[in-house]
Amino acid sequence: MPLLTVANLRKVYGGHTPVDGISFDIEAGKCVALLGPNGAGKTTTLRMLAGLLKPTSGEISFDGSPGGDYRKRIGYLPQSPAFYNWMSGQEYVVFAAKLCGIASKEAAGLAADVLEQVGLRDAARRKIAGYSGGMKQRLGLAQALIHRPRLLLLDEPVSALDPIGRREVMELLRGIREETTVIFSTHVLHDAEEICDDIILMNHGLIAEHGALSRLRSQYSIPVIRLTTEREEKAQRWLEDLAHRSFVEQSAVSPGSATLNVKNVELVRQIILQEAGSLDIPLLQFEAGSSTLEDLFMKVVGA
Ligand SMILES: Nc1ncnc2c1ncn2[C@@H]1O[C@H](COP(=O)(O)OP(=O)(O)OP(=O)(O)O)[C@@H](O)[C@H]1O
Ligand SMILES: [Mg+2]
Repeated sequence: MPLLTVANLRKVYGGHTPVDGISFDIEAGKCVALLGPNGAGKTTTLRMLAGLLKPTSGEISFDGSPGGDYRKRIGYLPQSPAFYNWMSGQEYVVFAAKLCGIASKEAAGLAADVLEQVGLRDAARRKIAGYSGGMKQRLGLAQALIHRPRLLLLDEPVSALDPIGRREVMELLRGIREETTVIFSTHVLHDAEEICDDIILMNHGLIAEHGALSRLRSQYSIPVIRLTTEREEKAQRWLEDLAHRSFVEQSAVSPGSATLNVKNVELVRQIILQEAGSLDIPLLQFEAGSSTLEDLFMKVVGA
């Protein structure tokens, strides 16, 4: 049984529909990326899953019970968390623990454990005002983890960070995902590829693609050949001629270069290299590979 089942979830604001009927399941133990460009509906979806925003329609079931109050079993990190800068990290996490209904004497011990887990033990007594962006984001994770939730909802946990902060938080997530089911939103495919099992690709409030990363990778992996030549007339004519051959499924030709989607890379490689030699084409670059999820992402997002 999935940990979370979402059926036909919709949110309408006035004439606007940021989430337009989405359905998916999340299996326990998975790390799922909610991927999509700005305005896709990621934050609206996560806020509904977190119980902070009432859906206009649709149903969310947690652990098999539709409509139940599961808020105590989830942790949530908003896109732009607001902290009380006058508090220390320790005070803030204890405060979050008490909001979850954890008793004071238990809260201090749990806070110390979770601050250790996110690498803030030494900074725990410092004021949050003096924390870096990466430290604040890790404090946000500590707050979301304090009650050991079964599901962690993280809204763009690394988007606002510099490369060092980003690396710190990604490493931390790598450990957290071993213990907890995680859904995190991002507009960067690379983040998703780094640690996720599954992706849900959203655009304009709808799910454009959904599934295991490994399956999507092989499904969208089409052999492709990229060629670059000197910019001269004979070479250009050859590139354009190649693009119309029967072994090319799709092509894009521009001055001095061509990208060809082909069926059989090996065969086409031989033909191209042989012709380039016999016709004396000034070939600068030849690359055989496959199209990637990035191409899929760009296609969906660019549409
Ligand atoms: N309270 C609101 N009232 C009206 N429209 C809203 C409200 N909240 C969000 N929207 C609209 O819903 C759409 C989706 O917004 P949402 O914040 O869910 O997208 P997102 O995928 O999280 O984007 P980003 O990557 O920029 O964080 C946007 O067009 C936004 O303007
Ligand atoms: Mg957002």
